[in-house]
Amino acid sequence: MSTDDLEKLCWNSQNIIKQVGQFIREEKGSVSQNQIEDKSLNSLVSYVDKTAEEMLVKALGQLLPGSTFLSEEETVEQKHGRYRWIIDPLDGTTNFLHQLPCFSVSVALQIIDEIEMGIVYEVNNDECFYAWRGGGAYLNNSPIKVTQTSELKDSLIATGLPYQDFGREVEYFTAFNYFMKNTRGIRRFGSAAVDMAYVACGRFDAFFEYGLNAWDIAAGIIIVKEAGGNVFDFKGGDEFLFGKEMVAVNEQLSDEVLQIVKQAFQ
Ligand code: IPD
Ligand code: CA
Ligand code: CA
Repeated sequence: MSTDDLEKLCWNSQNIIKQVGQFIREEKGSVSQNQIEDKSLNSLVSYVDKTAEEMLVKALGQLLPGSTFLSEEETVEQKHGRYRWIIDPLDGTTNFLHQLPCFSVSVALQIIDEIEMGIVYEVNNDECFYAWRGGGAYLNNSPIKVTQTSELKDSLIATGLPYQDFGREVEYFTAFNYFMKNTRGIRRFGSAAVDMAYVACGRFDAFFEYGLNAWDIAAGIIIVKEAGGNVFDFKGGDEFLFGKEMVAVNEQLSDEVLQIVKQAFQ
């Protein structure tokens, strides 16, 4: 697909995603306790996640006939065709259910094996972050860039605390402890897609988390890269989409942040 076609698809997809965001916004505060299911430990879901996904699948499938889906709630057959949408209909479900203001819709388009377009729509602030291959990254029509922070002591770091897989908690808190003592601070906002979008636009200098799924980060990956940042697995490689671990960081801090994470998780 040409860069121009990707751009067009990105604009059309944004309209769909914002409509789904509007639905989620309207449902905030309306989900009762008995409408919440536990898919697994602390992995919550309600009709809002599922309906949002169904809306996305229907509209994105019409936008790109023949495309396939990898989607968190599996409301559609999961298939890997040439064009595959990777969808998290509501990233930050726990925040949404507790009426905390950070949750998003995250949609990426994978072509064969590469993520070529991504959109993260943070619903509360009506902020749409997006990028397509070769086109740069944007927030609500304005180009965005990662920070140029070069000293760890001047950086702000985002993370996700383990809440389900405690298998690497000691390693995690080794890295956490180092960042806590050697940066301006650490934030846990509760939507990995938003954490990555915030790295892309320079609100955070870096983000790290383990236990992530492809739909949490697929859109964020291309947005960070197109904004001039780097994305790694914990060994500094590129096994992040399905590797359940990720570091997203600006160029200047890449070596140092990676070194800290590598050492903690070795
Ligand atoms: C979660 C959020 C959270 C992150 C978890 C994700 P969900 O996604 O992105 O920030 O720490 O790893 O599972 O369940 O709200 O879609
Ligand atoms: Ca998610
Ligand atoms: Ca989700």
